[in-house]
Amino acid sequence: MKHSHSNATSMSRRFFLQSTSVLAALSFIPNSLKAFYEDLKEKLFVKKQMIPIKLEINQEQYSLTVDSRATLLDVLREELNLTGSKKGCDHGQCGACTVHLNGERALSCLTLAVMARGKAITTIEGLADGDQLHPMQEAFIEQDGFQCGYCTSGQIMSAVACVNEGHTRSVEEIKEYMSGNLCRCGAYNGITEAIRQVAK
Ligand code: FES
Ligand code: FES
Repeated sequence: MKHSHSNATSMSRRFFLQSTSVLAALSFIPNSLKAFYEDLKEKLFVKKQMIPIKLEINQEQYSLTVDSRATLLDVLREELNLTGSKKGCDHGQCGACTVHLNGERALSCLTLAVMARGKAITTIEGLADGDQLHPMQEAFIEQDGFQCGYCTSGQIMSAVACVNEGHTRSVEEIKEYMSGNLCRCGAYNGITEAIRQVAK
């Protein structure tokens, strides 16, 4: 009896010690986690920093102050009211935001505005020559290259680049080099024909 009592005492003592060490550990974790999280946040999230930049867009100079983390797409649409470039996925997967940087296609949702400094930026608004539409814009109209039109500005910017790059030797080649631009309306045949028309 005495033996079992001492067993019970040592068990409860052990249980007490274990519980208190668990409790001690628990009370320690939030602080250490907090410190860890703060440390991680410091490393992963770049702090907001407003910086003055100059951008050349559609042959016009713009001076503005932007968040260093702002994408070119957001600056075009939100700051400069150039809303022709569309935000589809915002993750580089649909091509709706395509613009030209120094004549080459670029996804403006994946380009920081500060990265576009010193480059000639062309958006769909800068493609026409005054009232005269760009031949690719005319071809899209003639070949039924759009339906709802949401993807169209991105398609046209990529289509112009596709012709300039010389990737128009066959329907297959055009499709391959336009595959980064998605159209939920399925206007692909008209788009391909528009590109073939301009490439001739
Ligand atoms: S919005 Fe940029 S690729 Fe979709
Ligand atoms: S025309 Fe509607 S998404 Fe392409």
